Amino acid sequence: MKAIALVGGLGTRLRPVTYDLPKQLIPLAGRSMLYRALDVLPDDLDEVVLATGYKAEQIAAYVHEHPYRLRIRTVPERQPLGTGGGMRNVADGMSDPFFVINSDIVSSASAADVLRVHEQRNGIGALLLARVEETQTFGVAALGENDRITQFVEKPAPGEAPSPWINAGISVWRREVLDRIPAGREVSFEREILPGLLDRGVYGARLEGYWQDAGTPERVLYAQRLLFEAGKGIEVHLPSGASGTGPVSVGPGARAVGATFGPLVTLGEGVVVGDEARISNSIVMEGARIDSAATVVGSILGPRAHVAAGHRVADQILGAGGEA
Ligand code: GDD
Ligand code: MG
Repeated sequence: MKAIALVGGLGTRLRPVTYDLPKQLIPLAGRSMLYRALDVLPDDLDEVVLATGYKAEQIAAYVHEHPYRLRIRTVPERQPLGTGGGMRNVADGMSDPFFVINSDIVSSASAADVLRVHEQRNGIGALLLARVEETQTFGVAALGENDRITQFVEKPAPGEAPSPWINAGISVWRREVLDRIPAGREVSFEREILPGLLDRGVYGARLEGYWQDAGTPERVLYAQRLLFEAGKGIEVHLPSGASGTGPVSVGPGARAVGATFGPLVTLGEGVVVGDEARISNSIVMEGARIDSAATVVGSILGPRAHVAAGHRVADQILGAGGEA
């Protein structure tokens, strides 16, 4: 069996950091969003096809330099094709059934559980559903008998969501679904294709556990918090010579002698933090520098960003090489 991972989004809500890198390469608790998303897939998959577009070369280079436990192939789009168009573009040789995953989510889910629901119900597909308070920015499903999806509304207007159960971005489909997606143009799977599949039987698999879409700055940091709380941080310890409270994920060669940490921080490879600097609830990407007595709170610092001595950066995003 194979999986399609949708990796082509522009990451507009995470600019300016996404001007220079795709959002999927932002590290969450020390591991890229991309690999966090792929981690839900079972070990016995034959292949994961990454449907890439925006910054496709960077994704391909990352996968090459950081081998994953599963075989990965990347297929770039020449122009953004949307979620459905992205699936159609990698249809050649796809398995029956196949998984589709969004690559900007963090969860305790297992794609194998969605496959089990699909096999048990024997419809055209199955979709992982998460229960959330605010449904507006998601696709929302109404459920009938046996959790069969009876209605699907992408990004409903306030008050118009048919339930609190949203599309959590992990699904299983019969291969014939790909034939229903028009080729060569932009297609939203959620808006144009999914509603028309409901009469063939699309079933919900309700998630118990944590789930977070990491598409906005607040959500990225919240996703990182969930991962730390689940004990999934990489190299979690205070940097030598630093004080304060963890968890801090410390990348290779990162130094922070004399700095103070609040909780929930990722320091990428080679980050240098000066003495008396304070950092909490933030992601500091590789090669960034935070000078003495600077403060970084609730922020995402792109690769090689620089915070000058004594400056305070709160609830901000700095792009690659950005200055504050
Ligand atoms: N290949 C390709 N081409 N991938 C794309 C494109 C494209 O043109 N546009 C978006 N993607 C990828 C994104 O990188 C992301 O992994 C996934 O498709 C979903 O796109 P988002 O832009 O993040 O969509 P969303 O978060 O607003 O909504 C989607 O995800 C929600 C759950 O997080 C929908 O699937 C909703 O129904 C769902 O609730
Ligand atoms: Mg998203």
